[in-house]
Amino acid sequence: MTLPTFCDWLSNTPMSLKIQTVLWIIPAVQTVHILCVTIVMTSMAMLDLRLVGVAGRQQLMSRMVNRFVPWVWWTLPILLISGSLLIIGEPSRELLNPYFRAKMLMLLTVIAITLVVQLRNLKDSTFWESRKLLAGCAGGISLLLWIGIVTAGRWIAYY
Ligand code: HEM
Repeated sequence: MTLPTFCDWLSNTPMSLKIQTVLWIIPAVQTVHILCVTIVMTSMAMLDLRLVGVAGRQQLMSRMVNRFVPWVWWTLPILLISGSLLIIGEPSRELLNPYFRAKMLMLLTVIAITLVVQLRNLKDSTFWESRKLLAGCAGGISLLLWIGIVTAGRWIAYY
């Protein structure tokens, strides 16, 4: 089955037709999605700017990792569910969209980086504090990826 055929099949399922025809579902789901985006972006901006060394320098990096990373793991499942409902409602608009694919690629990459930051910190709470250049690289790349994810997410509608 090709992806366009799969999109056609999905958009004719009862669940997709419900999402397409009940007017409040898509705006309500997008609202939940955007509220979660604000939580993820605020948490990760605080942490990444600390790792880069431009903000929150009075706080230990390990404390910031422990404080902000859990917000990402709590919020991502809600983003995944709300995002999946948007995909089921408009499969072709999302799955055939290069911005959507770029967004998912960047998301997988930044999840991997965030896991490394957290696991290294769990193993040795001085790991990042004693490797400022590495911390700066991790924080910088992570922040750029999150900005890229938001940008791609918004541009999906304009492809
Ligand atoms: C976890 C997996 C995720 C999935 C499956 C997903 C899926 C989607 C989908 C399908 C849309 C609708 C695009 C449209 O039709 O206009 C969307 C919009 C968006 N997403 Fe995600 N997303 C996910 C995670 C994220 C994350 C982690 C962020 C940022 C931190 C994000 C930011 C956005 C933004 C800014 C929009 C545009 C919202 C709007 O214009 O109303 N998404 N997402």
